[in-house]
Formats: sequence, C-alpha cells, structure tokens
Amino acid sequence: MPAKGGVALTACDVVVVGGGVIGLVTAWRVAQRGARVAVVDPRPGGGAAQVAAGMLAAVTELHHGEEALLDLNLASAARWPDFAAELAEAAGTGTGYRECGTLAVALDADDRALLRDLHQLQRRCGLDTQWLTGRECRKLEPMLAPGIRGGLRVDGDHQADPRLLTAALLTACERAGVVFRRREARELTLSGSGERATGVVLDDGTAVAAGRTVLAGGSRSADLAGLPPGGTVPVRPVKGQILRLRMLPELTPFLSRTVRAVGRGGQIYLVPRVSGELVVGATSEERGWDTAVTAGGVYPLLRDAREPVPGITELPLVETRAGLRPTTPDNAPLLGPSELPGLFLATGHHRNGVLLAPVTGDALAASLTTGELPDYARPFHAHRFARAAREVMA
Ligand code: GLY
Repeated sequence: MPAKGGVALTACDVVVVGGGVIGLVTAWRVAQRGARVAVVDPRPGGGAAQVAAGMLAAVTELHHGEEALLDLNLASAARWPDFAAELAEAAGTGTGYRECGTLAVALDADDRALLRDLHQLQRRCGLDTQWLTGRECRKLEPMLAPGIRGGLRVDGDHQADPRLLTAALLTACERAGVVFRRREARELTLSGSGERATGVVLDDGTAVAAGRTVLAGGSRSADLAGLPPGGTVPVRPVKGQILRLRMLPELTPFLSRTVRAVGRGGQIYLVPRVSGELVVGATSEERGWDTAVTAGGVYPLLRDAREPVPGITELPLVETRAGLRPTTPDNAPLLGPSELPGLFLATGHHRNGVLLAPVTGDALAASLTTGELPDYARPFHAHRFARAAREVMA
C-alpha cells in the first residue's frame, strides 16, 4: 500500500533496505528462489565492506561466552567454498576467497599466556588448532620477527576480498532480476491498522511496497523512521580504522597467510592478498558515527604491526580508511522476523559480516520464503532483545 503522500513506483515481494554485503546476499538468495526483490541504497556495494579486511576468522576470533556464535560462524565458514564458486559462476567475477589459513603469534610472555588460553578454549570447543614454537612460526612465515615466542596455527581461518565480494554480489543480484532503487529509505510504511510493515518510503517521497521488508542497513539499521519503539534494532556503530599497504615484488613472498598478534591489549591482523595488497587492522572504538582517520588510530596500528612483522616499514602505505561495525549487545547478528509482522532483520554482524554472508543469505531466504528460520539461525532470532527489554520493564 502507498504511504501517505507517496506514490508506489515499485511493488515487490521483498524490499531490502541496505545494499552492503548482507543486504546484497539476502537479495540475491531470495531472488534465486523466485521472489521479486528490490534493494534500496543510495550507493549499493558501499559501506563497511569497502573498509573490511575480509578475514573468515571463525576460530581465531573465538571469545569466551560466544560459543553459540562460534557454531554459526563455523557453519558459514563451511559454506564459503561452495558459496564463492557459485557466486563467481553467477557473476563472472571472483570474491578473492583464498584458503590461506592464519597464524596468531605471541611476542612476549603475556601474549603467550593469552594465546595459550585461546588454545585451551578452542580445544574445549573441539577445534583443530596447533601450538607452534617461535622457530616453527618463523619457518612458516620467514618475515616474522626473531623474538616471536610461539603461535597458534589455524589452517581453517581463510580470507575473502570484501570489495570483490560486493562487486560480484551486485552483478549476481542484477542478473537475478533484483531492482535497485538508488535512494535513501526514509520511513517504514505500515498497514492501515499499523499492525504490519508494508515497505518503505524513499527520500524523494516515492514508496516501495512489499510483502516483506528486510532491514539490512548495517550500523545505520536503527535510523529508519517508523520502526516500532522498544529495542527493535539494538545496533550501534563500532569504529574500525584500517590500513592498506603494498607488498613489494622484491620482498615476496612477504606473508603467505593471515598473521595476527596481540598488541598492547589490542588485536592486530595482517591480511596478505594475492594482488599484493596487505591489509592491516584494526582499531575498535566507541565513537558514534565518527569515521575520521586519526593519527591516534593509524600510529598504534603501524607500531603494533611492526613488532611481529618488522619488514612492513619498507612497504608503501596506500590507503587509510575507517568504517563502522554494526554491533549488538551480545556481538551476534539479528536474523529473521522481528516482532512487527512483515519486518525482517539481517543486521548486527559486528566483526563477522563477510564470514557470515553465506549463512545469512541462506537463513534469510528460508525465513522469507517459507516462514521458518532454520535451526542454526534460531539462537540469533531478531526479537531476542525486544523481548528482554519488555521483561526488564515489566
Ligand atoms: N573482523 C575484523 C574486524 O572487525 O576488525
């Protein structure tokens, strides 16, 4: 139904608000099932994916208390090889998916204790990771500093290139018949009785009417006017600053796998691409909507990356960027139907948007077309916080 004052230019089965990795993968998967789909975004393919490193780090980013999320992360990691092949076939371009593995290294006794603790947690969770001596780490990656005190070898944590991924998803969506409305979504529209979401109004006043509306706006997901009050979309931005360096041909092989280290309490990672790009990240800052690149962000990244890999000082620094992670109170995504009929969420992926793209596309497509959220996605149902907020208030 058209919004008050609006004209329904597009009518579809599903409108996806947000054209980042999560919005695009949802649109593609649901269009493949025969739905008429529109994506609303002024710059589809932009957003956090243009900044992200693209680590598929289900195992090395495991944290105490996040074992349920581990299952979802592993389920998505397992989908990545087939997902990458299918998407490359559909789009005619690749995703940069590379089975490179990861090495997390310790620089001193404190790091070593932290990594040992992570190793114990991984083993308790049944994960296959291997403790290496410093010498063994350096044998794998000769550019590592001589003082490395040991490390964790995780052969299952790979990488994709988020910029290639979004480009491929855009093409796959277009080829699957997804319609793009390159505008801001201004407001959610509701049925006459207000009991059901019926689409969105765009910033030019036109309406996109849809049987189902998916909110996939990343850290901006809660911005849409007309959302029901009471914790419907508890997503906040967590800023990450990130650097791109270029590995010089004369220094190759520079790194063959992702290298991670604990740098003075913060996590640092170096992700080497076949193209020669070396991504170094990332800060984690609670600064609202600020996306400025600062000296205070870049300096510790370079300082802490130089400790495990001193040779980075020789490399050209080609890009500095900051992006916003869409983060929920439990660091896990919001998937599936919200409490408002007709409104679905696919947001809040925090540090794992690229990793979780395959499983999110599958879960949302199932939920949108069959009404059933698959078992693996149920712990992350989209109204878990709204219910908790109500219980606190009662
Ligand atoms: N997944 C890495 C990050 O968010 O920095």
